Amino acid sequence: MCGIVGYSGTGNTVDPVIEGLARLEYRGYDSAGISIINNNEIQIYKKEGKLENLKNLIGDLNLRAATGIGHTRWATHGEVNDTNAHPHGNDEFAIVHNGIIENAQSLREDLRSKGFEFKSETDTETFLNQLTFEYQTEKDIPKAISRTFEKVEGNSAFVVIHKTSHKLFAIKRSAPLVCGVDAKSGDVYVSSDPYALVGFTTKIYFPGNEVLCIGDYQKTEENFEFLDLKGKKSNDFKIQKKEMDLNVASKGGYDHFMLKEIYEQPELVKKLHSIYTSGKSLENLNSIVAKKPPFVHVAACGTALHAGYVIKNFLERRNAIRVQTDFASEFRYREPALNENELGLFISQSGETADTLACQELCEEKKLETLSIVNVEGSTLYRNCTNNLLIHAGMEIGVASTKAFTQQVLVGYLLSQAYNKQVNSEETANEFDKLVEAIDKVLDRADEIKQIAKQIYNYNGFIFTGRGDQYPIALEGALKLKEIAYVHAEGYAAGELKHGPISLIDENMVNIAIVTPDLFDKTYSNAQEVKARRGVMVVVGEENNADLEEVSDYYFGLDFCGVKDTQPIITNIVLQLLSYHIAKLKGTDIDKPRNLAKSVTVE
Ligand code: M6R
Repeated sequence: MCGIVGYSGTGNTVDPVIEGLARLEYRGYDSAGISIINNNEIQIYKKEGKLENLKNLIGDLNLRAATGIGHTRWATHGEVNDTNAHPHGNDEFAIVHNGIIENAQSLREDLRSKGFEFKSETDTETFLNQLTFEYQTEKDIPKAISRTFEKVEGNSAFVVIHKTSHKLFAIKRSAPLVCGVDAKSGDVYVSSDPYALVGFTTKIYFPGNEVLCIGDYQKTEENFEFLDLKGKKSNDFKIQKKEMDLNVASKGGYDHFMLKEIYEQPELVKKLHSIYTSGKSLENLNSIVAKKPPFVHVAACGTALHAGYVIKNFLERRNAIRVQTDFASEFRYREPALNENELGLFISQSGETADTLACQELCEEKKLETLSIVNVEGSTLYRNCTNNLLIHAGMEIGVASTKAFTQQVLVGYLLSQAYNKQVNSEETANEFDKLVEAIDKVLDRADEIKQIAKQIYNYNGFIFTGRGDQYPIALEGALKLKEIAYVHAEGYAAGELKHGPISLIDENMVNIAIVTPDLFDKTYSNAQEVKARRGVMVVVGEENNADLEEVSDYYFGLDFCGVKDTQPIITNIVLQLLSYHIAKLKGTDIDKPRNLAKSVTVE
């Protein structure tokens, strides 16, 4: 959600902070701000809207300082404006925050009774005022931060600077936070995402919860000190030395990251197959399937959950493993029956989704083994799970998830093949080869999809339907369209239409019907029922089918190239392109759709 970056060192803090914020802007873009320490004085510059607005604000000021913090906001408390933008500060401190302070209201009342005033509507300002209050008594920055942190409830990460100190102070509870050091200069960094630090640091630390991290570039030895809340040295952190790839943040000639990421899919599919059929990844996969669980609990959110629905079908149909799949935000609160020999499976692109992380913690508490299907190596989910299967999608910048879905489904397919001891089989190799061929064919016909988009983009209601493995694709197609084109879209199991939603059908409603060979007759009948009620029919199905041609207003016939189990990936890519072109025609902000953030780190 919010992006946070801090730097203190021998250079000008403004450069790495702004660069870090630019890299994190895809995660939250309601406002951006920076605070620096200049001659023992806190200075804050912040602006509603994208980072560009902040850059314009500070453009001619020639700001220079050793120590500073920055923030890109995804609003939770208080509307989007300059005042509510971060950093928040006063004469003593400046702070940035990612997360939610759940007891902000009671803290605010208490602080008001002590004479503190609030300028913004944010929960963050309660931390600032509480910190200022604690500092008045403690006169010690680490102690004051720890006392304040003990009083705030909820999952958050904070970075604090003080006017008299060149140090960075950071602390978190179940929110992403990394610290980094450049060994050559001693310069210290903190961020909510290691991506902000790529190229700057030689060593990255992932602190545990409630560990106060103090970064000091003037120290000659360890530039980071880690303390528990009592002020004692803490060893609760992990170190990662592996450097991340920075070569991702360019659109490579495409109009949008989303489109670039859609087109990356054939190469990623090929790569995934070669990664998992040899070496360490194969060993890891084989060791995971050595124990076959009697029951798998899948929890995830959004697109990752839709991938989970397809994976559930794989494991039940192909491996006879019972699977339940749930929204992470529901699973964690519904007191699920969890038994020790079962498996918790968590699917996530970012590995930082708050609800998904909470489900993993719950399963771990109940002594289940936990497995992630995740994109970001080193993310919190990756670090917390017993085992991990990386999806190797590379960085996904577009807020609308595309390539991650494909790779998640494929890792699920490989898991299913591994349970059947078939990962290295001809069947698997064939499935991947044919899939690449079929995806290439869809991408080559993007213009036809664009033409369909032109015919339907002005409608205001869309119902996506499918059966079996295509039902999750109906859900995913609807999610993609609503998030980037801002139109009402629903996904339904085709057989459910006549149990209610069919009353919505008339000449103003578009039905995107996925009618593939699996359960063809049933799904085709559902399409006819919509047609009979004058719904606008867009059919995605197998090519050269006269029935489909006849029932549809717009027919996108596919060559599945002999692909069997992974057909949903092919139909989904058609829908990804359809949503993309509808959104483009509507002129929305495709890579950064309104109100959304790439990584949802609050509940
Ligand atoms: O990082 P995660 O995969 O855990 O994120 C889960 C959802 O927030 C995410 O898939 C979201 O639904 C996407 N914006 C959909 O395109």
